[in-house]
Amino acid sequence: MSKVTEINHPLILHKLAIIRDKNTGSKEFREVVEEISTLMAYEVTRDLPMEDVDIETPVAIAHCKTITGKKLAIVPILRAGIGMVDGMLKLVPAAKVGHIGLYRDESTLQPVEYFCKLPKDIEERDVIVVDPMLATGGSAVDAIHMLKKRGAKSIKFVGLVAAPEGIKVLSEKHPDVDIFIASIDEKLNENGYIVPGLGDAGDRLFGTK
Ligand code: URA
Repeated sequence: MSKVTEINHPLILHKLAIIRDKNTGSKEFREVVEEISTLMAYEVTRDLPMEDVDIETPVAIAHCKTITGKKLAIVPILRAGIGMVDGMLKLVPAAKVGHIGLYRDESTLQPVEYFCKLPKDIEERDVIVVDPMLATGGSAVDAIHMLKKRGAKSIKFVGLVAAPEGIKVLSEKHPDVDIFIASIDEKLNENGYIVPGLGDAGDRLFGTK
């Protein structure tokens, strides 16, 4: 089963309260989503492999640790996932960025991919899929399926707010994918919104509505 980590750090909870507020406008919403994403990147990269190196300081040799040549890819699910990319890149600026856009065909219920551009060596990279809202889990499940089809082997999912339903579906369909979430909320409502959630993350990020 997926390991599920709810990152309830005071800074993240404080910033989450700001973006939940319906009176927070797009500019601040975008800025704070970016800040939370940076803080989450810190937690998500906690298990990056390290190697020992000796560094000559002005005084003596220091036995240090550096991150090994681990390659990362950040893959936002369009469109709201884009809001999390810059915040993550602040901590891992050398990561490559792929994009996945998909929707569910209403008659066949099959995922239809309308955009997919990934780093060529995706199979060698640790992939961090980002989408602020894990609601039904449908898009995350389909996006991760597409990444695996293209060779991705090591995948994590990072979101801001999740419904318990979405966590369950994602961890059942992709038990090898660990999930990092800032808040697991109460439920989904009949319109597919997370309750209490923060509304439509894409609309709030981009000022559409
Ligand atoms: N997507 C959103 O942007 N918000 C929700 O509450 C659910 C899905």
